Formats: sequence, C-alpha cells, structure tokens
Amino acid sequence: MLSKMTSYHQHIPVMLAECMQGLVTNPNGIYIDGTLGGGGHSKEILNHLDTNGKLFSIDQDDEAIAAASEYIGDDDRFSILKGNFGYLTTLLPPPNHGQVAGILLDLGVSTHQIREGERGFSFQQDGPLDMRMGNMTRLTAYEVVNNYEYEQLRDIIFNYGEEKASRRIAQAIIQSRPIETTNELRIVIAEVVNQKFLVKTLARVFQAIRIEVNQELEVLKDVLSQSLEVLKEGGRLVVMSYHSLEDRLVKRFLKAGNFEGKINKDFFGNDLSPFRLINRQVITPSPNEVAQNPAARSAKLRIAEKINGGGS
Ligand SMILES: C[S@@+](CC[C@H](N)C(=O)[O-])C[C@H]1O[C@@H](n2cnc3c(N)ncnc32)[C@H](O)[C@@H]1O
Repeated sequence: MLSKMTSYHQHIPVMLAECMQGLVTNPNGIYIDGTLGGGGHSKEILNHLDTNGKLFSIDQDDEAIAAASEYIGDDDRFSILKGNFGYLTTLLPPPNHGQVAGILLDLGVSTHQIREGERGFSFQQDGPLDMRMGNMTRLTAYEVVNNYEYEQLRDIIFNYGEEKASRRIAQAIIQSRPIETTNELRIVIAEVVNQKFLVKTLARVFQAIRIEVNQELEVLKDVLSQSLEVLKEGGRLVVMSYHSLEDRLVKRFLKAGNFEGKINKDFFGNDLSPFRLINRQVITPSPNEVAQNPAARSAKLRIAEKINGGGS
C-alpha cells in the first residue's frame, strides 16, 4: 500500500482547541486517539501532556500510520496501535484498562484517503472500487457494487446514504454490471438521477457504500461500548462525527450509555447513565474555521465524562 503513495495529503485537524479543552483534564494521564490519521490531533494531545502523560493512537491505515509517525517523530510518551478501533479492548495493553483519562474519536475518512484516487473513495477522481480504510478487511466497494443483491444495495443506499432515489440507483447499478471504477459508477448514477442534485446524490451513494465496506456504524457501536471498560472514572469521551447516522448513535450513547438513548433508572428512580454530558448542546466549528477548512463544515462534537459506577 505504501509503495503506491506518492505523498500524504495533509489533513487539517478539526476543532483542535475545542477537542483539547474537552479531552485533556490531566497532563499526566493516559489518552487514546482512536483515529490517528495524519496525526494532527495526536500531536496536539502530546503538546498538552507532561512527561508522565501517555498517548496510544490507533489507525487501520498504513498510509496514515506512516505519515503520522513521520509528523510526530520519536516520543517516548507515544505509541501507535495498528488496527480497527472496534477492537479497542484488544488493542490497548491490559494494564491501561480502566485507567484512561480520555478517548478522542474523529470519525470518517481523512483528506488523504479522499484525495488519493487509488483508494476509490472519491467520485471526483477515477480509481478502483476499493474504499477500504485499511488493508486488513476483505470486503471492497467492488464486491458491494457488483455482487450484492438488489434489495441489499437499495437498503444500503437508502439507510446509509439517506438517498431517496435508492431503488432507481440500485436498479441501474445491477443493469450496468460489471462496474470496475469510480468513474464508471459515477456515470451509471448520473444517467438515472436529477442532474441538479447530482453532486449531492453522488456524495450520498459513495458515503453509503463506504459505510458498508468499513462497517462504520457497527465498529462505532463497538468502540463506544468498549470505551466504558477502558475509561477511568472522570475519563472523557470526545467524539466528532460528520453525518447524522453517526451523530445519532454518539448522542444517544453519551446521554444514556446505550444506543436507544433511553436512560435506565434504578429502583429509587435515579438515573443510571454511565456518563455526565460536558456539553449539553452539540459543538460545531466556527464560521471562521469552516471558511478556512470547508471539510470541517459538517463536524459535530460531543463530550461526556464517565461517572461513578459507569460501565461496571
Ligand atoms: C478524520 S481522519 C482523522 C484525522 C486526524 N484526527 C488528524 O488530525 O489527522 C480518520 C482516520 O481514522 C481512521 N479510522 C476510521 N475508522 C477507523 C476504525 N474503525 N479503526 C481504525 N481507524 C479508523 C481512518 O483510517 C483515518 O485515518
């Protein structure tokens, strides 16, 4: 994978100050950045830590790991864990379980992954239908586009892309098989949808396929659930999401500790949520940040603190 990479398209970290303010409560604590990417947030976390602080950063993408290692350089406080954050408790060395002061998740794909045509994420660049964030999984966009049944495709496009023309698009894909590249997929979609909304439709369909390929909602649920096992009392969970499906899961989990968002009560009627919300209102980037970095425009940041007994 690395050999094909010409250069790393630098990812501008989103809401850096807001994330640090919510995340780092103890400069000598143990932290996890579950989405290392180009290392922008990780480097800033290290800047906020003292000599006894520790940071474990996770990514499943070799290209991100190579770029971030170079960007951050040697630092005894810093360790990279290669893998899927859905296996958080397996990746994190056991002595740190229950000791973590903060976890940051900056969900989705990086600027590099989107811009590198070869990765197959973008409808604006031609490339193979891949869309895997890492090379450890088998399922690719090619498999989804060329081998899924009509009903599966339709439901993915509707549920993960929130695209109303899902039936028409799924039908067109099936009739045009085999589809080899992102450009071919783009042309197939363009033939059956309203040209006025073409870019939005393409963005929705590509997002839907990407979510399916990387099982993004499932692994998000896994990491959120496992966060309770690794965080200490008072530990912070700081999550930035970029579309409503993710944000809904995050919002419910941070409110109630489950994905229904319903706070359980004990016998006496006391709330049993494992979290205390740090921000009641979702945090979004300032107009100034969006002007400088349009990729930040849909970001939603939510922060909660694990409270006494949470997860036990
Ligand atoms: C939005 S970028 C993070 C950018 C980073 N905060 C920075 O400042 O450069 C998301 C990164 O998380 C990684 N990622 C997304 N989902 C993941 C998962 N389930 N497991 C491991 N890494 C994941 C992607 O490969 C990508 O590099």
